Amino acid sequence: MSKKISRRHFFSRSFGLSAGALLFKDFPIFQSSAASKIPLIITSHTNETGEKAMETGWEILAKGGSAVDAVEKAANIIELDAEGMGVGFGGLPNENGVVQLDASIMDGKTYNAGSVACLENIKTPCSVARVVMEKTDHIMLVGRDALEFARKWGFKKEDLLTEKARERWLRWKERLSDRDDWGPSEHLKNLKKKSPGSKESDEIEHYSGTTNVLAIDKNGDIAGVTTTSGLSFKIPGRVGDSPIIGAGLYVDNEVGAAGATGRGEDVIKSCASFYIVLRMKEGRKPLDACEDAMKMIADKYRKVNPNFFPGEQFVAINKQGEYGCTQMRGKRPARISVMTKDGYTRHEGTVVFK
Ligand code: GLY
Repeated sequence: MSKKISRRHFFSRSFGLSAGALLFKDFPIFQSSAASKIPLIITSHTNETGEKAMETGWEILAKGGSAVDAVEKAANIIELDAEGMGVGFGGLPNENGVVQLDASIMDGKTYNAGSVACLENIKTPCSVARVVMEKTDHIMLVGRDALEFARKWGFKKEDLLTEKARERWLRWKERLSDRDDWGPSEHLKNLKKKSPGSKESDEIEHYSGTTNVLAIDKNGDIAGVTTTSGLSFKIPGRVGDSPIIGAGLYVDNEVGAAGATGRGEDVIKSCASFYIVLRMKEGRKPLDACEDAMKMIADKYRKVNPNFFPGEQFVAINKQGEYGCTQMRGKRPARISVMTKDGYTRHEGTVVFK
């Protein structure tokens, strides 16, 4: 049986974290307060690279620069990190061993957006998306033509498959089975009972390490980036939610912004980022709006497979500089990096279904 969202659960979680805050300075609060500062930049990336990305974005915002510059340059830091296996250079490849990247950018001030999908050989796909946004009347370019477009605008063609990612891909190939992506949708696959002897380690391990970066500049203008190498070992040509405006990213300059990570198939069907921004427009706080989207997705599956909870994480900011993040399921709540004039902090959100 699936569990319903319980307000009591959220409150107890909130109190638990308040107590924990005394011990763990890195995760000081449950949800931002109305006193949050603008300018502000956040990312779903919470390791050292995420911190470096926030410093880079903050330098731009602190000098009065635009939110769109801040999110692009911050995301570039994460894209260029060869150690990160979910984004840009070093990202895990598709099933043929080819790294295919998806990215989007949206500028609330101009209500403009750009994206690229299945882009190969370019380390900074969100910057190509920005060129699509600013230099064309289109929103999305894909595949070989996106690469050609990028080359014409001076982006360098490079090999994106690191030794570490290649080794992971080869290990995945060794274990290929009827549990790879060739077959029914994930939520229908889960209806089949696992054979009695099957262990967790028998499952094909997919990895999606997408990154969202959202910012508000000193003028109150809002922008966002979502960038990813997508689902690891995906079928070549597969496009996830990240480059789809309204799914992996959405910005409304009057309301706020939202971004998604996790299994893109479910985010696409639910237009999750658009839904979160819509909920904020209706008066919901960022965290509540993110939780609403999770519940909406779980509700969609309830009749088909009540035990299916796609592994999603959502982050959101509103016009007032409040922020929140949540995770569909799991032991570890969603986390985000936040940078304001008060410095860099990491914040912990919620898990919607325990
Ligand atoms: N959320 C990233 C993807 O599914 O491609």
